[in-house]
Amino acid sequence: MFQGVLFDLDGVITDTAEYHYRAWKSLAKELGIDIDREFNEQLKGVSREDSLDLILKHGSKRSDIDDDTFKELAAKKNDVYVEMIQSFSEDDIFPGILPLLKELKQHHIKIALASASKNGPLLLKKMKLTSYFDAIVDPSSVAFGKPAPDIFIAAAKAIDCSISSCIGIEDSKAGITAIKKSGALPIGVSNSQDLGTDITLVSTTNDLTYEFLTKNWVD
Ligand code: BG6
Ligand code: MG
Repeated sequence: MFQGVLFDLDGVITDTAEYHYRAWKSLAKELGIDIDREFNEQLKGVSREDSLDLILKHGSKRSDIDDDTFKELAAKKNDVYVEMIQSFSEDDIFPGILPLLKELKQHHIKIALASASKNGPLLLKKMKLTSYFDAIVDPSSVAFGKPAPDIFIAAAKAIDCSISSCIGIEDSKAGITAIKKSGALPIGVSNSQDLGTDITLVSTTNDLTYEFLTKNWVD
């Protein structure tokens, strides 16, 4: 049986993937770069800096931006994003997530956050979910961000579980690649087939029950 569940946050626990997109879209517009939802799929799960790098390259503007300007732009996007999430509360938790966290606790399954977002602790606090997590990995503590497996490996370690005894839950391509490379079992949350057909997918977080995870676990 699995011993730990490693959660992504944005787009899995709550709808912040949408706000990351809106904040990037507005910054990109100021820079004269147009990004759409299709392009945004590449940004999901990717760190703030790597996302900005991808956007600037997409607009052929990467070489115009020096290090200080790059840092300013990343900070500016974050300011816009943080403003957007100020009003977040328990009402913003995706359906099924709170019951799942409770069921996992009842079954003594360890829970870790493996989010690339430096705003993860703030969001968990706002949604009153912090106490459910046995560990929250600081994304700046790992050498490589998603799609590298580092954050999932660190999350399993932080809850004293072998990575092969963990399930990872993700909504992004980069995140699913990271889980696959880590050796955990991936479960994708997606409305589309964006995440591939070789893994278990749910179209709504309501389907993420303890029973569902158990049925998909192969010892
Ligand atoms: C990931 C999001 O969880 O966190 C990305 O999917 C985001 O869109 C990344 O860029 C970093 O987030 P933050 O809050 O540290 O800028
Ligand atoms: Mg995500």
